[in-house]
Amino acid sequence: MKEQGREFDFFEQEVGLLDTVGTRAREIIGQDCSMVSACVARPYPLVVDRAKGSIVKDIDGREYIDFVAGIAVMNAGYSNPDVKAAISAQLEKMVHCGYGDFFAEPPLKLAKKLRELSGYSRVFYCNSGAESVEAAMKLSLWKTKRQNFIAFYNAFHGRTLGALSLTGSKVRQKEHFPTIRTVHTHYAYCYRCPMKLEYPSCGVECAKQIENLIFRRELSPEDTAAVFIEPIQGEGGYIVPPQEFHKEVRKICTDNDVLLAADEVQTGCFRTGPFLAMENFEIRADITCLAKALGAGLPIGAMLADRDLMDWPPGVHSNTFGGNLLSSAAALASLEFLEKENTENHVREMGAHIRQRLRELQENFPCIGDVRGLGLMIGAEIVKPDKSIDPARRDRIIKEAFKDGILLLPCGDSVIRFSPPLVMTDEEADLGFDKFEKALKRAVR
Ligand SMILES: Cc1ncc(COP(=O)(O)O)c(C=O)c1O
Repeated sequence: MKEQGREFDFFEQEVGLLDTVGTRAREIIGQDCSMVSACVARPYPLVVDRAKGSIVKDIDGREYIDFVAGIAVMNAGYSNPDVKAAISAQLEKMVHCGYGDFFAEPPLKLAKKLRELSGYSRVFYCNSGAESVEAAMKLSLWKTKRQNFIAFYNAFHGRTLGALSLTGSKVRQKEHFPTIRTVHTHYAYCYRCPMKLEYPSCGVECAKQIENLIFRRELSPEDTAAVFIEPIQGEGGYIVPPQEFHKEVRKICTDNDVLLAADEVQTGCFRTGPFLAMENFEIRADITCLAKALGAGLPIGAMLADRDLMDWPPGVHSNTFGGNLLSSAAALASLEFLEKENTENHVREMGAHIRQRLRELQENFPCIGDVRGLGLMIGAEIVKPDKSIDPARRDRIIKEAFKDGILLLPCGDSVIRFSPPLVMTDEEADLGFDKFEKALKRAVR
């Protein structure tokens, strides 16, 4: 039996990259791979140690400019003083109470802030994105007494079995697992229109398919509990649809009396400018899921809806850690910090700046086929000369960038994502892009 199989795989695959990290990093990776489940996939050998703002230091003291933010989590920046103070104060008092059984002030204060920011009158707390999606699925099943869902190709909603049923991006992760019936349909991926049409003359035909095709041939509205949608597809490739797409989906749901659930796990908490990304599209979903950035690095998820929808009785759904005191205190401090720092404007300006830098690079590097994004959720799609996807080159660029001290992550089939902490400064972004350009040059040679 190859007890350390994954370790050898990683070391064999990443020989060049492992030379760029220090001895402590190599030691930790070796041990980690022999003890921790190999089902997670790491793109490069980063062993973190500490971080501040938008800068991460590895275990051997090497510094990286972070365009990843712990997968769109550290919106208020690493080691944020306000968040640290709130966590320390709560730590002195109490960490956990079993909020499913008792009452406490920190989750209530957070609920008030979430109501103020989102307009939803009810919140259900959990611990992760997948769990908030599961809660939204259960609420829609419970409310409608229907059994099926509609979701989108390229969607990502998590890896627990319910959320995985909605996920349409990671085919590999769906192998061998049972699903709740979900019919998938086209998202507005205009750079690679699945219907071979062009926006705006297409009239967002992709959205209209729900009514024209699915409701007629696959799944009646009377049997559809909810449509689950990401405002911008995240793991599926940072795909930004036109506003009309969301408007059409919203209209179809309203006309057919089907619930619309927005998965804002990645897009929420000011990532795209406003608190919720759906605000960019002037859409209000019936249910909204939050997690990731909400807890500023501590685990928390939240499912939001109005009182008339979230009127399920005691005992229908609950958990042990939802509303955890430490996570709630961190979340409130982070949201207050982001509000007070006028994050919405900074995100818009910094997002425009990063997209501009990418478009300038696009002129000299035709492998950057498409640059898209809203706020600080930005994707660069890497393509071959004939515009087909080029995942091998994409991965090479990310690895070269790592060597130069830049943290990037892939998403979709062939996309590099830029989702830095929302507090990233102009200087950090520019230095990051100077380094990124060098990495690009080497990767396209
Ligand atoms: C849109 C979306 N929904 C759900 C999830 C799942 O969140 P978690 O990994 O916290 O379960 C993710 C994670 O990337 C996500 O991007």
